[in-house]
Amino acid sequence: MAQRTFSIIKPDAVRKGSTGAILAEIEKAGFKIVAIKKQSISKQQAEGFYHVHLGKPFFKGLTEFMSSGPLVLLVLEKDNAIADLRKLMGATNPADAEEGTIRKKFASSMGENAIHGSDGEETAAFEIGYWFAGYELI
Ligand code: CMP
Repeated sequence: MAQRTFSIIKPDAVRKGSTGAILAEIEKAGFKIVAIKKQSISKQQAEGFYHVHLGKPFFKGLTEFMSSGPLVLLVLEKDNAIADLRKLMGATNPADAEEGTIRKKFASSMGENAIHGSDGEETAAFEIGYWFAGYELI
């Protein structure tokens, strides 16, 4: 059954000019783009989005990085979207990412790792609702 997931093309990938290439990988893998917007986010918005990581040693660096420049917010749809996107993304640390994955091709470090994808159904629902209004999902 078609499932929705949430994704971000992170500021490192946008800065490098990899947005189009990453979108092409996503569409080639069979995802429908339900919603898409490029914007800059504040540190406060990043802190709210990553609230589950509050207190972790990488929280400050992560939220500073995510608010350091424009990024692309996405809602994607396909059968098994959540697991399939995470497979397409590759491991969080690009050094561990498999050949052919987005992080292997476009990411440079654990922090600057090109793409985010929801890790479960509840997270996907929270993340989609955090960035998009219902009328934007088409
Ligand atoms: P993301 O999927 O966006 O969710 C949390 C992010 O924290 C993760 O990708 C990484 O980019 C970032 N991060 C930075 N350092 C670490 C770390 N040591 N362990 C896990 N995630 C980290």
